[in-house]
Amino acid sequence: MRTAPENVRRVACVGAGVIGGGWVAHFLARGYDVTAWDPAPDAEQKLRRLVDAAWPALTQLGLAEGASADRLTVVATLEEAVVDAEFVQESAPEKLELKRDLLTRLDAAAPAGVVIASSTSGYPMTDMQTTAADPSRLVVGHPFNPPYLIPLVEVVGGERTAEDAVTWASRFYEVAGKSVITMNREVPGFIANRLQEALWREALHMVANGEATVKEIDDSITEGPGLRWAFMGPMLTFALAGGEGGMAHMLDHFGPSLKSPWTRLEAPELDKALYDAVVEGCDEAADGRTIADLVAERDRGVIDVLRATGRLPRQEDPR
Ligand SMILES: NC(=O)c1ccc[n+]([C@@H]2O[C@H](COP(=O)([O-])OP(=O)(O)OC[C@H]3O[C@@H](n4cnc5c(N)ncnc54)[C@H](O)[C@@H]3O)[C@@H](O)[C@H]2O)c1
Repeated sequence: MRTAPENVRRVACVGAGVIGGGWVAHFLARGYDVTAWDPAPDAEQKLRRLVDAAWPALTQLGLAEGASADRLTVVATLEEAVVDAEFVQESAPEKLELKRDLLTRLDAAAPAGVVIASSTSGYPMTDMQTTAADPSRLVVGHPFNPPYLIPLVEVVGGERTAEDAVTWASRFYEVAGKSVITMNREVPGFIANRLQEALWREALHMVANGEATVKEIDDSITEGPGLRWAFMGPMLTFALAGGEGGMAHMLDHFGPSLKSPWTRLEAPELDKALYDAVVEGCDEAADGRTIADLVAERDRGVIDVLRATGRLPRQEDPR
């Protein structure tokens, strides 16, 4: 039996790393009971550390009534995690065979009808649902890091997913406070990752060719187009580049430059030199800040942006 999206109380999170842990934090903050399972021996400590680190940001965002980190139960087996779940979020490593086997096991263990969503960054569900006994309830629910702060989830089914499972998942995520794009067809990488990947490939080429440093690449976005993208996407932003003529003038004016060799798009070879340049560049850019420092800084920044763009109530200006 499938609980109505509005009535779901118990959520299972399977795989509790960066993304699974982020989902756990999100669902706890939204007042759900969360059961988690992860096979790594130190998974529970890591997960609780992640939830503790996220809690100040979540408190700032506003916790749902009754929300508490104490409503997290970490269990020893996959079966215990999902036995009475009303929704399952899978966030295991991005390996196709592993996802296929895990989704098959989750489908065998979860109550009939319960929707099971995968956090995959890019595999089409059609490729992951091949061995499950009931593929009709398997969907992709692709979040952004950290899932407890970035609103977007991309929802899409595979060839053997039932439409009502996709509809249910989209509604459930909305009730759970997410911003949902329901895709009507499968595309590897979905929408946002295809766009991110295009930028990422070009950035790697620029580092590999000595054309820009890691820091210059980051500054070019945070001091430039990134400021606009927080509230206006690349299409409308470019429409404004056409002045009063809007997108039509923009296309007439800059359309010919689409023929210019401005991007390479084929990914560069990730050889050791490029690998080291990117890792060392990030260490330099971090300038002594630890990953935990950067996570806290990012969380504060996202909350400030959400507030500044009217997606969260503004705080009283103390001045
Ligand atoms: N990191 C991101 O920014 C991001 C964003 C969106 C989606 N995703 C997707 O989320 C998923 C998880 O990625 P991540 O970044 O959290 O990785 P991660 O390495 O941080 O976490 C993966 C977790 O899965 C656990 N695990 C290993 N084998 C498992 C199994 N058989 N069953 C269940 N759990 C298992 C590991 O112990 C680990 O804790 C991937 O599909 C990834 O593509 C990642």
